[in-house]
Amino acid sequence: MANAKIDVVGQAELPLVADLYSQVFKPARDAAHFRRRFLGRYNPLILIALVDEKPAGFFTGFELKPDVFFTWLVGVLPDFRRAGVASQLIEAGQSWAQGHGYETLRFECHNHHRAMLHMAIKHGYDIAGLRWDPDHAANLVIFEKSLVG
Ligand SMILES: CC(C)(COP(=O)(O)OP(=O)(O)OC[C@H]1O[C@@H](n2cnc3c(N)ncnc32)[C@H](O)[C@@H]1OP(=O)(O)O)[C@@H](O)C(=O)NCCC(=O)NCCS
Repeated sequence: MANAKIDVVGQAELPLVADLYSQVFKPARDAAHFRRRFLGRYNPLILIALVDEKPAGFFTGFELKPDVFFTWLVGVLPDFRRAGVASQLIEAGQSWAQGHGYETLRFECHNHHRAMLHMAIKHGYDIAGLRWDPDHAANLVIFEKSLVG
């Protein structure tokens, strides 16, 4: 287990989020991209995972509707993978959402993000549907997990 330290941070850390994002996803994005996507969002959540004080991964999410919290992005730098860092981020996000009264967690994942598909199943998510993503001309698998009952 990575035993990462998970910090809840504010939007002042968006340059770090953009830097981590750009090491994991393509194309690269800057802080302004994230700032724009968070505009008007209620309960934006940004988590940073630190391993030996070094940023190793990030989590972003926001409210989708009053009872549903949406996990927007999860990324872990290649050198830190398969050590439980994303699991810690997801569990921290889940506790935060539970503590803020949300009943359901949801996220969407492209088929080519195979590690995330595995991780969703491992963390007890159900496949709740499929939607066509016109931006990428590909299907997105919709995952949900209930936080009640
Ligand atoms: C998906 C991602 C966040 C996983 O991060 P991670 O820190 O390596 O994940 P964890 O170590 O917590 O893995 C937890 C479980 O997920 C599954 N898993 C993770 N990576 C996997 C892989 N490459 N292949 C198969 N299963 C995998 C396993 O069940 C794993 O448990 P195990 O190691 O005990 O078998 C990371 O691979 C990543 O950043 N990928 C690129 C970005 C991405 O696809 N993000 C999701 C789209 S939003």
